[in-house]
Amino acid sequence: MEERYLELIKIINEADYNYHTLDKPTITDQEYDSYLRELYKLEEEHPEIVRSDSPSQRAGGKVLDEFQKIKHTIPMLSLDNVFNEEEIRLFDERIRKEGIDPKYVAELKIDGLSVSLNYRNGKLVSAATRGDGFVGEDITNNAKTIKTIPLTINKPIDIEVRGEIYISKKMFNEINADRAKKGLDLFQNCRNLAAGSVRQLDSKVAASRKLNCWIYHLPNPEDYGIKTHFEALEFMKDLGFKVNVTDNKIVNNVDELLEYIDEKAKKRDSLPYDIDGIVIKLNNIAEQKIMGYTAKYPRWATAYKFPAQQVLTKLEDIIFTVGRTGQITPNAVLSPVVVQGSTIRRATLHNEDYVLEKDLMIGDTVSIRKAGDVIPEVVERLLERRNGTEKPFKMIDKCPICGSELVKKEGQVDYYCMNPNCDARNIEKLIHFVDRHAMNISGLGENIIEDFYNMGFIRSVIDIYNLKRHAEDLIELEGFGNKSVNNLLGAIEESKNNSLEKLLFALGIEQVGEKTAKVLARKFESMDRLMNASVEVLTNIPDIGGIIAQSIVNFFSNEENQNTIDGLKSLGVNMYYTGEKIEEKEEFANKTFVITGTLTNYTRDEMKSIIESYGGNVSESVSKKTDVVIVGDAPGSKLTKAQSLGITIWYDVQVNQIMEKYK
Ligand code: IVH
Repeated sequence: MEERYLELIKIINEADYNYHTLDKPTITDQEYDSYLRELYKLEEEHPEIVRSDSPSQRAGGKVLDEFQKIKHTIPMLSLDNVFNEEEIRLFDERIRKEGIDPKYVAELKIDGLSVSLNYRNGKLVSAATRGDGFVGEDITNNAKTIKTIPLTINKPIDIEVRGEIYISKKMFNEINADRAKKGLDLFQNCRNLAAGSVRQLDSKVAASRKLNCWIYHLPNPEDYGIKTHFEALEFMKDLGFKVNVTDNKIVNNVDELLEYIDEKAKKRDSLPYDIDGIVIKLNNIAEQKIMGYTAKYPRWATAYKFPAQQVLTKLEDIIFTVGRTGQITPNAVLSPVVVQGSTIRRATLHNEDYVLEKDLMIGDTVSIRKAGDVIPEVVERLLERRNGTEKPFKMIDKCPICGSELVKKEGQVDYYCMNPNCDARNIEKLIHFVDRHAMNISGLGENIIEDFYNMGFIRSVIDIYNLKRHAEDLIELEGFGNKSVNNLLGAIEESKNNSLEKLLFALGIEQVGEKTAKVLARKFESMDRLMNASVEVLTNIPDIGGIIAQSIVNFFSNEENQNTIDGLKSLGVNMYYTGEKIEEKEEFANKTFVITGTLTNYTRDEMKSIIESYGGNVSESVSKKTDVVIVGDAPGSKLTKAQSLGITIWYDVQVNQIMEKYK
């Protein structure tokens, strides 16, 4: 029996390797399933024989309370970036200055998250995220669900290898399409989705995401008598890892390197996964040693980042949408086109002046890109592509929804629909109310709100909390069922416990964004006290000027708004601040912070609330007023700006050290 068990493990692991790593299936799906069933049956009958390298361990199922920490024996460093030919040549010169005549390995820079895999005696014993480079998180259970990570390698040796966990564009699109249907927030890009999946405490969720893993780094090549990086790649491939020896290539000089970059940039779209650049590594290990490391990066490698991709498409139409304040926004309707992995159909054109400045005509060929890699933006129209059939843009003068006359306020660029009962405005108010940053009611996506509004289930925010009265009608709707209605009603009930700042932001008081809502909630602690505050009292609070104060007072003196708040109160919506109290800490108090890049231990929102709870402020852009810029992985231009202004910079590791003090 045991012999058969070992045989089954071998057969299935080999089949997984051939199918997932080599893309060359050797057995049929039916055969595979029948081996797997046989294995499961044996394990069920003899639970004592289950081995850690059994393919059954890939199914996921363990749910953790938290991730354990794993200390990296060799720090896991990130890479410095270069953005153009000049910077590539400077990188090359720095190496030549050390008397080296370099050969490089050029590799695809996969957009995922790095992982370290540890094998003892040929068996996978642990997998860890990078964390702050020194200590990562133990994601072994989730790593085991990845079919391209071998559970056993081809030699019974001890070894650590490093690579990138990523998700295919196809899976990314499927998961987002499914989430859109369910009204859930969409993942912004493949990297976010891969990172979110790897950090799931429930390994079944990770398994369902069908992650993948390329291996590209051997931290200890000398231990295996390996002299060049390319040899290390081949060595790891022979051990059974998925290593990209087809695309990764030895280049003899910068010109060859530039050619490689050009070629791969062209191929980028047709790859099944996202890449965001090319990694350049000195091939010779002895030369790598000469170059060494800075505090954060190897000096023997760098990452060339692709410029934001621009794609041509047709501007089919310009349509107008009405925001919750009545603001009218022109939007580009584009022939659908894929940019960096996602399909773009719309792009905001902000306002009339913006469209006129860009000289856009309906029917124009336009180039578009994703600004900050996320929001689609129309860059320019191609004048030479015009053929006389284009139609000029014309700003509207009536609300496209309710037909009321639009108003342009003095000195402003935007037009407004002033009708407080305009359906479009009401729908937008509701969409804002349930937003993740506001009352955070998942399951009420934009389309669902619009449908419920049109069906009469939800006409005001009060109706959201009365939705349970319609439970039976909702269950009957297409796409709904008992479970999703229960989930939705549960999320609505849950939102009643939100701390005051979420409600304040959700109410959509003019001039009160998320940040001001927080300041107000912290200061007044209850809705009643805030409602009684005068302009004078409000303007005495730092960060609150006369315009904001007046807008707050106006909002609360409006009878309709008072009724809404009374209604919410009687339905059990919390009206108090329940967040953390400010505990001033010297590194943070009264300082302004800017966060750029991805931090290892905190999401941006978490970092922001920690800073605020320690008495600091977080702002979006770097200026002379910024005290500290916190820099994570893949920082944007904010880092360069901070450096040029001489602003204090805290790298990830420093942030973690400071946080450690206050734990
Ligand atoms: S080498 C010391 N090679 O890009 C060597 N990294 O922006 C460290 N990445 O932290 C990494 N593809 O997560 C290397 N072919 C590749 C890569 C790669 C993607 C990631 C990795 C790294 C980040 C730096």
